[in-house]
Amino acid sequence: MSHQVSVLFVCLGNICRSPTAHAVFRQKVAQRGLEDQIRIDSAGTGGWHIGKPADQRASAVAHEKGIPMADLRARQVDLGDLIEFDYVLAMDDANYHDLLEMALPEHREKIHRFLDFAPEYAETEVPDPYYGGPEGFDHVFELVDAASEGLLKELAAKL
Ligand code: 4NP
Repeated sequence: MSHQVSVLFVCLGNICRSPTAHAVFRQKVAQRGLEDQIRIDSAGTGGWHIGKPADQRASAVAHEKGIPMADLRARQVDLGDLIEFDYVLAMDDANYHDLLEMALPEHREKIHRFLDFAPEYAETEVPDPYYGGPEGFDHVFELVDAASEGLLKELAAKL
């Protein structure tokens, strides 16, 4: 079966937050048997880490929870992604505004703040953990896990 809906997670570097979201969401989708119906990818607005695996601190947190992400490699988001994907989920406000600026007007409504799908959290951004300590990566995981649940609930209702 071809995929019915496609989802792209976007952060700055595509080595911390968006690959975490990619891996967490992918596992939830697989657990519900929906992997043939939902296509998942991630990308960064910046190009510094193209081709690199996820940051070890992000993979360590995911690994602790039994979520594999060793296969993921960073890439940069482009205009074609914004044409192609049905849902584009920005981790923070900077990502959100960069994506809006890049997108054609008719595609802007596909771009969302990822944490809009976790209304139980007061935060509206998944904070950039890159220059902080390990607790930042735990917090990213918690937010991403909650928003992934919310997003999957919305998508599953539409399939
Ligand atoms: P990410 O984190 O956007 O969650 O992947 C970052 C990774 C790298 C950099 C910044 C944020 N950097 O400046 O290289």
